[in-house]
Amino acid sequence: MKISVDLGPRSYDVVLDDGARHELEELVATRAPRAKAAVIVTSTSLTTQPWFDVTTGLRQSVLDVGEGEAVKSLANVEDLLERMAVLELSRDDVVVGVGGGAITDLAGFAAATYLRGVALIQVPTSLVGQVDAAIGGKTGVNLRAGKNLVGAFYQPLGVLCDFATLATLPERERLGGLGEVAKCWLLEGRAAAGLAEVSTHDLIAMAVHLKANIVANDEREGASRALLNYGHTLAHALEKVSFARDHNEIRHGEAVAIGLAFAARLARALGRVGDEEVRRHDEVIAALGLSTALGEHFPTSSLLEAMAHDKKAHHDLTFVLAGVAGFEVVAGVDPSVVGDVLEAFRGE
Ligand SMILES: NC(=O)c1ccc[n+]([C@@H]2O[C@H](COP(=O)([O-])OP(=O)(O)OC[C@H]3O[C@@H](n4cnc5c(N)ncnc54)[C@H](O)[C@@H]3O)[C@@H](O)[C@H]2O)c1
Ligand SMILES: [Zn+2]
Repeated sequence: MKISVDLGPRSYDVVLDDGARHELEELVATRAPRAKAAVIVTSTSLTTQPWFDVTTGLRQSVLDVGEGEAVKSLANVEDLLERMAVLELSRDDVVVGVGGGAITDLAGFAAATYLRGVALIQVPTSLVGQVDAAIGGKTGVNLRAGKNLVGAFYQPLGVLCDFATLATLPERERLGGLGEVAKCWLLEGRAAAGLAEVSTHDLIAMAVHLKANIVANDEREGASRALLNYGHTLAHALEKVSFARDHNEIRHGEAVAIGLAFAARLARALGRVGDEEVRRHDEVIAALGLSTALGEHFPTSSLLEAMAHDKKAHHDLTFVLAGVAGFEVVAGVDPSVVGDVLEAFRGE
């Protein structure tokens, strides 16, 4: 299946298929016909996977950039750019990101900045990568002060979501991806019952469709792209509080699941929705196998503090919330209401 991201001259297709990675060579030939060399940005642990047989048809070099979130550093960008320069990658050549969201974010940022921009193709291999990170053109790395604070909007020439790569994904990573899938399902207004009728592949396609449409209408995050941050205000706070202790305590998607359940309760407390909407959220999240438990190790005061200092939210409590007119961005939410809803949610 192909889903196009419509951005005028920068439009591209997202291919979703078992074996989609095998389309890389043809994609390079059609979209970067003058390319003579390619670098494949990835991790060593992925190069040993049975599906790691990506070929570009060009002189290609596989560059290992390390594992996990730590790859998203400016030091790593510099190192990667230096290696690309040593390989004499030219303006016409291609960068291919093969890996989870951390790898595709880094590869994308390197492609956006090397020689002021070279061709980029993403081959996301995690569920988060396929439903979210590799689509839409946001690339970047972290600073010590926070996640994703440096980056560029830079669209790829194509995205190849190969379902076959997901076979080796650890269970916890799969669950994390389902947090974003739950977000999309809820934003689409669908009920839990519908989940019984669809496959994981259908869910990935649904999420890609939603993101492709939103990005096509709002590439640089005005109002509508911000809807994709549904559940993320609390999720980012949970990540911030837990990362200070242990980077593996909570996966992004697990935090999003909690954030979604909380957002429904906040919307209810603000008189925007009723019990039915809260129930829909709980049922969808549970049907996908995700937990919404908010433990005592996330004190309300720490979460409020983290949300108030979210650098991307202008130091204001801003949430995407459901309402009679659908989902919308609501700024300036009263912290005492947020605190009360958090306390009640924790005690459920
Ligand atoms: N640019 C965006 O719009 C956007 C959107 C969402 C998330 N992100 C970013 O994506 C990152 C999270 O991505 P992620 O959840 O994929 O994490 P990740 O990239 O850290 O990957 C998680 C782990 O899974 C492993 N892995 C990946 N694919 C595998 C496979 N097929 N088989 C076995 N192991 C595999 C990786 O090596 C890694 O150890 C975050 O940095 C986040 O900020 C970006
Ligand atoms: Zn997310």
